[in-house]
Amino acid sequence: MNTQDVVLCNNLHADLQHAVQQCPHDKLFILTDENTYVHCLPLIDRPQDAIVLKTGAEDIHKNLETLSDIWLQLSTQGATRHSLLINLGGGMITDLGGFAAATFKRGIQMINVPTTLLAMVDASVGGKTGINFNGLKNEIGVFAPANSVLIDCSFLKSLDHANILSGYAEMLKHGLISNLPHWNELIAFDFDHIDYLHLQKLVGDSVEVKKEIVRQDPHEQGIRKALNLGHTIGHAFESFALERKHPVLHGYAVAWGLVCELYLSHLKTGFPKEKLRTTIHFIKENYGAFPFSCKDYEHLYEFMLHDKKNSNNHEVNFTLLGEVGDIRINQIATKEEIFELLDFYCETMF
Ligand code: GLY
Repeated sequence: MNTQDVVLCNNLHADLQHAVQQCPHDKLFILTDENTYVHCLPLIDRPQDAIVLKTGAEDIHKNLETLSDIWLQLSTQGATRHSLLINLGGGMITDLGGFAAATFKRGIQMINVPTTLLAMVDASVGGKTGINFNGLKNEIGVFAPANSVLIDCSFLKSLDHANILSGYAEMLKHGLISNLPHWNELIAFDFDHIDYLHLQKLVGDSVEVKKEIVRQDPHEQGIRKALNLGHTIGHAFESFALERKHPVLHGYAVAWGLVCELYLSHLKTGFPKEKLRTTIHFIKENYGAFPFSCKDYEHLYEFMLHDKKNSNNHEVNFTLLGEVGDIRINQIATKEEIFELLDFYCETMF
């Protein structure tokens, strides 16, 4: 996989100009959604001849129909294999636009300009692109890194609190899989008085964690599975909530998933009790709790069995930790162990 140029911007205008110059092109397209079209597009200094495309906002639009509409617009507006697409938005836009760019005429150049915290620290970095299909998240997609990723934290100042927290859960995960000083700094962050300069520094550190893991294992054959910490249970919570028509933000589901998977780490791989307590306290304080009862355990377990990270439909595969930074991939848990961690979650969080 190509290496990806990730820039923490102090001057988005200059950095974008430079990134665009690095990608010689005949036509330039900018993909936005209804929100970024209004709130973010005016903040970037776009070339006069740029053609702006707009989709609906939110994950519900990350589908085949929207993708087909983007292909159609690229095609009818004269895009060639030498064109360039800038994806301006959250994870929905960088996933969808990334997939559109990777497949249009077998692949055109693209630049990601993430506008949410989740997209900055996770979705826009590392080359995963795709759409939801047949009721399953990210069911169709390819690995296709953007030529450049430009991260400008000033977009965060207008991001709502819930979406800041949602992205922060992925940062917390990066802290847990990396090292103690980074984790300590993340756990101490004060959301009541957000220091955006400090947040920008933490975003830079977080992106470095992800970049290094992706560098080692771009196609998720091994160590990249570390990035799945919190996601096996988190995805089950997310799917369960969606089915009940009360969707939750991805990062909230990951935070609650971390509670469960760190407990499992404590049981199976010796993750220290004190760090388990500290992390749970931070999550409970900031994210509250996901509501379910013991009547839902079987259903949640079914979701876990169908997670695409499993190698078969009989076992649930986890990434666990022995310590902060001590990653143990490919850990299998029994149904009894999973029910026990759900018990633990209910006792601790409610
Ligand atoms: N979001 C996890 C990964 O990029 O592998």
